[in-house]
Amino acid sequence: MKELDSEMNSLVVIAPAKINFHLEILGLRDDGFHELAMVMQAIDLADRLMFRKNSEGKITLSCDIKDLSTSDDNLIVRSALLLKNCFQLKGLGADIRLEKNIPIGAGLAGGSTDAAATLVGLNELWELGLPIKELEGLACELGSDVPFCLEGGTQLCFGRGETLEPKSKASSSMALILVKDPSASVSTPWAYGRYREKRCQQYLVKESDFESCRKSLREASWLNPLWGGCLPPLRNDLQQVVEPVTPSVQLALKLLRDIPGNLGVAMSGSGPSCFALFPDIASANSCYLQNKKLFEQAGLMSWCCELRDEGVTIETYQ
Ligand code: C5P
Repeated sequence: MKELDSEMNSLVVIAPAKINFHLEILGLRDDGFHELAMVMQAIDLADRLMFRKNSEGKITLSCDIKDLSTSDDNLIVRSALLLKNCFQLKGLGADIRLEKNIPIGAGLAGGSTDAAATLVGLNELWELGLPIKELEGLACELGSDVPFCLEGGTQLCFGRGETLEPKSKASSSMALILVKDPSASVSTPWAYGRYREKRCQQYLVKESDFESCRKSLREASWLNPLWGGCLPPLRNDLQQVVEPVTPSVQLALKLLRDIPGNLGVAMSGSGPSCFALFPDIASANSCYLQNKKLFEQAGLMSWCCELRDEGVTIETYQ
């Protein structure tokens, strides 16, 4: 990482998306959130955020797409204000420009990774020197997936998603095809609410039962040693309630399952984006090129992605 110097007044941060290899709902917590056991994986589909210091103490946000609010309800602005208010940084401001590449409302943590990038970017731009543990604390306040996005890679995520146990760097060469209907989006609270409606009789209640689920995930052969030839079984409990009522998810899963050579297909997070795994980028890319037109004709956007070992990263200083 380049040394900070007094000249530095802008920087660019890369904010990668994530997929879920495993999303298991264990029960309901006292705070109303669900107790989860997940494995999240960062991928190389990423937003870019440009931060420039301003001396008026204001936070401004602009974005290259129209259908995203750039006001105080945007998680980027909320993250910047949280940092400013926590440390009483009255005079410090930033003009933030978002290049949005991750689809919105897709189950890929697009908003969460932008929030994580804002914490990292402003920590650097404003020369706050906060350690990652402190940024994680702030990240928890912004959303359940934000702490994961800070460091990315492959991580076990427990609690409401914010209690992290990083796995060693993915030595896997696996890659994926990701698809999403641009006109569909799924609200995360709606997906969890629907799951609760349908499945709450099966919820575990005792902490000892939660812990035994965590233990079996920690010990799962496909994670130990990571990628030792075993494939992730790809479990997503939210898929059970989102897929039956979301035609674009049904279509996406069908098209992906029909691709010969895929190693497994699932929805990511609360959807509606879906992905198929392949052994390496060459096979993923060749299948992607063969099917790109088909996805297009079906009205789906598509991407070919690699797994990523890191979370948000500072790309350039100016
Ligand atoms: O934490 P985040 O803002 O991403 O959560 C969005 C919503 O998703 C919550 O308000 C809640 O309805 C649901 N949720 C949940 N249990 C979790 C995470 C999210 O019920 N562990």
